[in-house]
Amino acid sequence: MSSNKKDLKTLIVYDSKYGCTEKCAQILASKLENVEVVNVKDALEDIGFYDTIIIGGSIYMGRIQKRIREFCKRHIKILTKKNLGLFITCMFVGERGKQQLLDAFPKELLEVAKAKDFFGGEITYQKMKFFDRLLIKLLSKSGETGMPKFDENRNASNLMEDKIEHFRNLIA
Ligand SMILES: Cc1cc2nc3c(=O)[nH]c(=O)nc-3n(C[C@H](O)[C@H](O)[C@H](O)COP(=O)(O)O)c2cc1C
Repeated sequence: MSSNKKDLKTLIVYDSKYGCTEKCAQILASKLENVEVVNVKDALEDIGFYDTIIIGGSIYMGRIQKRIREFCKRHIKILTKKNLGLFITCMFVGERGKQQLLDAFPKELLEVAKAKDFFGGEITYQKMKFFDRLLIKLLSKSGETGMPKFDENRNASNLMEDKIEHFRNLIA
């Protein structure tokens, strides 16, 4: 039986605290065919069925979400055999963004991934919980380099849709 490219199944698994990574997962999905987008909380244990698996999470205090770390660890063997994509959203870009990407996923997966990148991120201050707001307030005043510019409401975005397009072209 011949399989056509459209039959190949893609799974995008993500975690997202305030919606930015979920938005990126949806943008990627809109550019791919035969794709399912699933929050890591609801991901099935049996992922053998998919040909392509894309994993995305966001960075908080330098680390990707624990659920994503655990998902990678639990499925590491099978993930190395897939057409694999790995991405993060984060506010730091440049070398720091790159380093955060390398720290976010196991080396074995980074080595085999067809696409891996950081997409930038979004800070939606109004949505944030108390302690996250506090941290963002401090960070926005710290003058650290590599951060997006905050507007008067302390919102910021440096999401790079061209990187999402490039990622899509590498994985599809
Ligand atoms: C409390 C807090 C800590 C953060 N820490 C980092 C960080 O260490 N490095 C970074 O690049 N971005 C950091 N960010 C930015 C988030 O990674 C970014 O806003 C991301 O797009 C959030 O995605 P999500 O809404 O899908 O969770 C932080 C954001 C918050 C609110």
